[in-house]
Amino acid sequence: MPGGPQRAGADQPPPFGETRAVGTDLGAVDLDVSAAVNGRLDGLLAERTAQARDLDPVFASDLAARVARFTLEGGKRTRAQFLWWALRACGGTVGDAEAALRIGSALELIQTCALIHDDVMDGSRLRRGQPAVHAELEGQYAGCVSAAQSGRFGESAAILAGDLALVWADDIVADTGLSPERAERVRALWSAMRMEMVAGQYLDIQGQVTSTRSLAHAIRAACLKSALYSVERPLALGAALADADDSTTAALCSAGRCVGIAFQLRDDLNDIFGTGQGGKPSGGDIRSGKPTYLVAVAEARAQARDDRGALNVLRDSLGRPGLSPDGLARVREVLVSTGARATTEAKIDRLAAQGMRHLESATLDLAGRDRLRTLLWSATGTSSVGTAVSAGSHPAPPPAPSLLVAADGIRQ
Ligand code: IPE
Ligand code: IPE
Ligand code: MG
Ligand code: MG
Ligand code: MG
Repeated sequence: MPGGPQRAGADQPPPFGETRAVGTDLGAVDLDVSAAVNGRLDGLLAERTAQARDLDPVFASDLAARVARFTLEGGKRTRAQFLWWALRACGGTVGDAEAALRIGSALELIQTCALIHDDVMDGSRLRRGQPAVHAELEGQYAGCVSAAQSGRFGESAAILAGDLALVWADDIVADTGLSPERAERVRALWSAMRMEMVAGQYLDIQGQVTSTRSLAHAIRAACLKSALYSVERPLALGAALADADDSTTAALCSAGRCVGIAFQLRDDLNDIFGTGQGGKPSGGDIRSGKPTYLVAVAEARAQARDDRGALNVLRDSLGRPGLSPDGLARVREVLVSTGARATTEAKIDRLAAQGMRHLESATLDLAGRDRLRTLLWSATGTSSVGTAVSAGSHPAPPPAPSLLVAADGIRQ
C-alpha cells in the first residue's frame, strides 16, 4: 500500500486463537466509536455484575452495580477512541476490531478506577456532574453510624470500588484472544501504563504535602498521572494491535506524549478558570495545594519580580480547603498578573503543535490520521486544528518531552 501504513501481513486473517471480529462492522464502529465501546462495555459489565450477584447480593448491589453504572453512564470515551483511531491509522482491519474494542473497554475501566480513587485522594465530591462515588457511598448507611464513620466508610468502599474496576479491566485484557506476539506487546504496555499512573498520582499528592513548586515536578507528574494513560499508551495499544512498525509507533507515542501533557495542563487551567465543563466545581486544585505547572510558573514569576503581593496571595491560598470565593478570585488575578495563565496557554499551544508534527511524521492511513489529528487536537482544548499543521513538507519534530527532564522553562 504505497504511502499507507507499514504493517506486516495486513490482508491476512488473524492467526488461529485470536479474538475474531465476528459481526464487527468496521464502518459502523468508525461512525461512532463511543457507541461501539459502550456496546462492548454493556456486555462485559453485565457478565461481571452477574458473577458478583452469584457471589453476594449486597456486594453486587452496593459495589459491583455502582462501578458498572459509573462506567456506563458517563465519560467521553477519549482513551478508547485514541486506541481505535491509532489502530485504524496503522492499517488495522476487521480481524483486529474485536480485540481493540475489548481493550478500549478495559481502558475505560482503568479510567473508572483512576477517577474513583482520584476523587478520594483529592477530596472531590463531584464527578461527571454527579456525586463522586465515595460521596454517594457515604450516604448509603449514613443513618446507621456517625458522620465520621460514614465518611470513612464511603472512602474505604470507594477504594474497593476502584480496585474492582481495575481487576475487571485486567481480566478483560487477559481474556482477549491475541497471537503470542501481540499478547506480549499488549501485556508490556498495559503493565507499564498501570504503574505509571500510580507513580504520577503519588507524585501529585507528594508534591501537595511538601508544597513542591518546581516546573520539572509539575511536568513529570502531569506526564505520569495523565499523559501516558490518557493518550500515549492508548495510541501505542492501537498501534500494537495493528502490528505497526517501530518508527510509526514511536511517532504516535511522541505525539501522544506532547498532547497528553497538554491535556493535563488544560485540565489544570480549567480547574480554576473553567466553567465547570467537567462537572466539577472551580478551584479544587488551589484549595488542595496541587503542584501544577500553572502554580509553579506563577510562583517562579512572582519570585523573579519580587512581587510580594502575589507571593502572599499564593502562600495564603494554596492548600487552604476553606478558601472563600473572593480568595479564589484573588488567586485568579495573580495567575493572570504574573503571566502564569498566558504562559501555560502558550505551552499548551507549543505542545499541541509539536504533537501534530510528530503525527505528520508517521506513515499512516490518511483517513485514520485525519481522525486522530482531530481527536488529539481537541484533547488539548485548543480552538481549531490550524496553523501548526500546514499542508506540504513538515520539519522534523523535536523529541517529545522526556520523563526525566522538565520540558522547557517559563521563558517564552
Ligand atoms: C479526566 O479525564 C481525568 C484526567 C486525566 C484529567 P477525562 O476528561 O477523559 O474524563 P472522562 O472519562 O471523560 O470523564
Ligand atoms: C487526574 O488528575 C489524574 C487521574 C485521574 C489519574 P486530576 O486530579 O487533575 O483530574 P480531575 O481534575 O480530578 O479530573
Ligand atoms: Mg482530581
Ligand atoms: Mg488528582
Ligand atoms: Mg484536574
